[in-house]
Amino acid sequence: MKVVAITGGAQGIGRGIALRFAKAGYAVSIADRAADAGAELLDLLAGQGARASFAVTDVADPKSVEAWLAQTIRDLECPTVLVNNAGFMIRKPFLELPLEDFDAVIATNLRGTFLCSQLVAREMAKRDIHGAIVNIASTRAFMSEPDTEGYTASKGGIVALTHGMAMSLALQRIRVNSISPGWIETRDWQYAARSGTPQHSRADREQHAVGRVGTPEDIAEACLYLAEAGFVTGQNLIVDGGMSVKMVYAE
Ligand SMILES: NC(=O)c1ccc[n+]([C@@H]2O[C@H](COP(=O)([O-])OP(=O)(O)OC[C@H]3O[C@@H](n4cnc5c(N)ncnc54)[C@H](O)[C@@H]3O)[C@@H](O)[C@H]2O)c1
Repeated sequence: MKVVAITGGAQGIGRGIALRFAKAGYAVSIADRAADAGAELLDLLAGQGARASFAVTDVADPKSVEAWLAQTIRDLECPTVLVNNAGFMIRKPFLELPLEDFDAVIATNLRGTFLCSQLVAREMAKRDIHGAIVNIASTRAFMSEPDTEGYTASKGGIVALTHGMAMSLALQRIRVNSISPGWIETRDWQYAARSGTPQHSRADREQHAVGRVGTPEDIAEACLYLAEAGFVTGQNLIVDGGMSVKMVYAE
């Protein structure tokens, strides 16, 4: 059986990934610290006939991740694919950023990716599962707005961790890749405010070569590709509608 484990899967991009993998026939296990959003998605997946499991989880906490993984194996089976998607940004002026805020972002985004990968890969290796890990990084690993250091450092770390793990897990035949999304509109994929269609200005759309802002489905499609692309490992796939290669001259 194909089983995908998705962190931060209850809302936003992770929710899109969960629904896409379920459609592709995967059993889906979600870890998220948002209890209500996770419970709602679990109902939706069950209603669609998917096998699914959800545990309130904090990916920064080893005990919490261990409990989620144990529940996943009990309810479904060992994951064959792990998607490290949980992440958040704290944006505060660099000169005033408290160290705790920097550490909190690194603990979820980067350390959480390492932790979940290590625990899931151990279980895959025990069972000789030649699985795949997909890490959600960001184009902010390569370009920045001011006052986003914790986030950009965590995402740069994820890109490096990805090729590191790809080499370390090669013997176990576990592939590891990352996706760097650009601007993905998730407002209508949030539990608290899932209503209406977000509006984008013409300038918003035109800064993308493809003429629009991205959606969770765009990332989910790339994720499914990397989950199944048997000859691809250690790579970072930029999925940003061409935004980061579009040259812009200020008038
Ligand atoms: N939306 C974008 O434009 C964009 C662009 C590039 C990268 N990303 C990355 O994509 C991923 C998903 O982003 P999103 O925009 O869907 O965000 P989101 O806030 O909509 O969803 C993130 C989910 O992760 C969960 N989460 C956060 N910290 C957690 C923790 N410690 N343990 C468990 N769950 C946790 C949240 O509860 C939430 O459900 C993130 O890693 C983000 O950095 C997003």
